[in-house]
Amino acid sequence: MAKVKTKFACTQCGTESPKWMGKCPGCNEWNTMVEETETQIKAPVGRGELLRTKEKARAIIDIESGKEPRVSTGLSELNRVLGGGLVPGSLLLVGGDPGIGKSTLLLQASYSLSTQGLKVLYVSGEESVRQTKLRADRLGALNDRLFVLCETNLEVIEEAITEVEPDFLVIDSIQTVYRPEVASAPGSVAQVRECTAHFMRISKINGVATVLVGHVTKEGAIAGPRLLEHMVDCVLYFEGERHHTYRILRAVKNRFGSTNEIGIFDMTEDGLREVTNPSELFLSERPLGVSGSTVVASMEGTRPVLVELQALVAPTHFPSPRRMSSGFDHHRMSLVIAVLEKRMGMFFQTQDAYLNVAGGVKLDEPAADLAAAVSLASSFKDSATKPFDVIFGEVGLTGEVRAVSRAEQRVREAHKLGFKRVIMPEQSMKGWQPPQGISIIGVRTVAEALKAALE
Ligand SMILES: Nc1ncnc2c1ncn2[C@@H]1O[C@H](COP(=O)(O)OP(=O)(O)OP(=O)(O)O)[C@@H](O)[C@H]1O
Ligand SMILES: [Mg+2]
Repeated sequence: MAKVKTKFACTQCGTESPKWMGKCPGCNEWNTMVEETETQIKAPVGRGELLRTKEKARAIIDIESGKEPRVSTGLSELNRVLGGGLVPGSLLLVGGDPGIGKSTLLLQASYSLSTQGLKVLYVSGEESVRQTKLRADRLGALNDRLFVLCETNLEVIEEAITEVEPDFLVIDSIQTVYRPEVASAPGSVAQVRECTAHFMRISKINGVATVLVGHVTKEGAIAGPRLLEHMVDCVLYFEGERHHTYRILRAVKNRFGSTNEIGIFDMTEDGLREVTNPSELFLSERPLGVSGSTVVASMEGTRPVLVELQALVAPTHFPSPRRMSSGFDHHRMSLVIAVLEKRMGMFFQTQDAYLNVAGGVKLDEPAADLAAAVSLASSFKDSATKPFDVIFGEVGLTGEVRAVSRAEQRVREAHKLGFKRVIMPEQSMKGWQPPQGISIIGVRTVAEALKAALE
């Protein structure tokens, strides 16, 4: 075996250093450097090798293009997040908390691809072949083109790839795979980087669409997917709340599509079911005619989604009142409270304020500001909101309500779900006609919006 050398590497960005450092010079994160014992490999594989071809530089107009061919995964929510389907030869990373349903999602996608005549190899380093079979039985995912391998040695996996010649490859998970030449333990920065580089080469050269499952660990104790994010084409996160059955698939990086789209699934005994009408799901438990609850029309990618926004304002005896938000940006909440204090004369200094987006959805659009303002004011005054109102609009520092994009689509979604009124920025009302049966109230200031919503 070649010389073994000790060094330190950052679990977040992969920066290496001969000595330990408290702060990583690459990403400025603290306590991310871990010790690695790495063997010198004669020919490290990586992007360099992949690109070392005899090709010459060409004028861009001479390069033939065409639409990226896409294969439907059979799960329309997954297709949506991928930007229209799976691109052959692409390398994807799927991350998520333990037990969230990553293996279930990928087994379902594998099955559906195999029914379309594609060959699929599912490599599980965490579960036995029997366990995978049991899951496949439960999901009804049985097909003779779907091959399962329980292995963690990269060389054995490569042999299986040569033998099966799959079109779609799943590695569950990248942290369990190891390359024997690299001395560090599976899951270490060096192993994860080497193995990922290897799979990248396989996917690009053979045109195999490859999905790597990555574990999200607290504080990056082992090499988390962060490090891999730079190396892959697409990074998807599968999230959800433990006590809810629905799951949200989000793209945080996508070389072949937008990263705004989300896919929504419901976890059932027979596997993940797609949720095609998310608004209905998110509003199903909504209490009607109470104070602090509003419905906001938010855009998730190209799709409008209605969600409930709840606020609770309660007196406190402590000198510094609490400000807590879940699913809503903390800074924007402070901004909205400041606007209510300064422009509306509501005194929040002696009040704790909580803001919660029901159903674990994250609202990161400024268009949710106005609904937050109405929710907070409604709870502050203990005055109920109207159950059939939908509210959206951005709030500015002077208390003005600013225009938002795609107003028409938001209104149509509200109409589809039977809402009667929409309170929205007056500025966004130009150039389109609202559907019959829904009344639109255009507002210019937060004061006008509160008047319309609460009186
Ligand atoms: N028999 C069952 N009935 C209903 N739901 C089940 C059943 N078995 C498993 N599940 C659901 O599937 C989830 C586990 O899914 P899965 O194994 O795909 O997750 P994972 O993200 O791959 O987990 P890990 O990180 O352990 O690999 C469980 O948390 C549970 O919600
Ligand atoms: Mg799993």
